[in-house]
Amino acid sequence: MSLSPSTAALFKPFEGGGLKLENRIVMAPMTRGFSPQGVPGPDVAAYYRRRAENGVGLIITEGTVIRHPASEADRNVPHIYGDEAVEGWARVVREVHEAGGKIAPQIWHTGTARERSKFPESDAAPVGPSGLGLTGEPVSEPLTVAEIRELVEAYAEAAANAKRVGFDAVEIHGAHGYLIDQFFWEATNKRTDEYGGDLVGRSRFAVEVIEAVRAAVGPDFPILFRFSQWKPVDYGAKLASTPEELERFLAPLSAAGVDIFHASTRRFWEPEFVGSELNLAGWTRKLTGKPAITVGSVGLDSDFTALFAEGKGGQPAGMGQLVERLERGEFDLVAVGRALLSDPAWAAKVRDGRLEELQPFGREALGTLS
Ligand SMILES: Cc1cc2nc3c(=O)[nH]c(=O)nc-3n(C[C@H](O)[C@H](O)[C@H](O)COP(=O)(O)O)c2cc1C
Repeated sequence: MSLSPSTAALFKPFEGGGLKLENRIVMAPMTRGFSPQGVPGPDVAAYYRRRAENGVGLIITEGTVIRHPASEADRNVPHIYGDEAVEGWARVVREVHEAGGKIAPQIWHTGTARERSKFPESDAAPVGPSGLGLTGEPVSEPLTVAEIRELVEAYAEAAANAKRVGFDAVEIHGAHGYLIDQFFWEATNKRTDEYGGDLVGRSRFAVEVIEAVRAAVGPDFPILFRFSQWKPVDYGAKLASTPEELERFLAPLSAAGVDIFHASTRRFWEPEFVGSELNLAGWTRKLTGKPAITVGSVGLDSDFTALFAEGKGGQPAGMGQLVERLERGEFDLVAVGRALLSDPAWAAKVRDGRLEELQPFGREALGTLS
């Protein structure tokens, strides 16, 4: 007999946005830095395979950078271009599929988050819509329109590579203050041409990326799009302050070809706007009619009672509230980050009610990223 509230809703199959998944648990994208020269090796394949073997419905990989001299901000992050890296990903996909899982790469350009001091041997300057860092400091020249077009093509190439090696979908990283989000955010996009201006103008780059990716992968290949209101320098930042603004922001992205939105928040239980309990994923689903992934502090407290305790004040909300929201149809899928980092078998243990076996999340998990 299980003492825990039912988590059955998390383990119901999902079909939507061109994807068929065994359950609702998604591994959130988490950068690792274990791919020397950008090439993911057998250890990377084994890392993702462990999550697939243990009941994760869909894996979204760590951010993988597109073909551009300044796309990466950290050493040893994997590339999604070039024969060796793409061959490395082919092995990852094979192993995840053998284990019965599904997998999408997250495609990424870090924009002005790249620090020159970390790449002293490279003369590739960071790039951004207005050449501004996240705190507004100038770090390079604004991108030219010709450079913007090349970047759009590099996203498309990355997506085509993903499809070619058998990935099940692709996720475009439009969140967390990186290149695409630097176009979205007024603090980093001061352009006065067609790539700047109001939120719709500032979304033009993302729309072109999505359209180019769609053209590269064809009509049936699922495109996920991740976005966030928060920025690493400002957790309270907002691209959209009202549901109406959010609708204006999301409509062109949706029309450009997004199949599933991934609304990145730090705490899934927080209402996005006053007057409604809906979180950002909930609003996104309601406004676009497309499936949505929620994320943020799921399962972080492995203590049996805390895992199921309801969030009050600063306390994490538990699985009970997560499941209730899922059952109400607020969102379709649930991404899990740090809990799956520290315990590759997190999904299987929750599914089977083996909560006492969950490995608590600790900083050491960040060190090994195993
Ligand atoms: C070590 C680490 C690396 C991350 N790297 C990425 C990344 O490459 N791309 C991304 O969109 N989010 C990244 N994130 C954010 C996670 O995807 C997720 O949104 C966040 O950790 C909140 O989920 P959690 O509370 O379940 O951990 C990272 C988070 C962590 C902890």
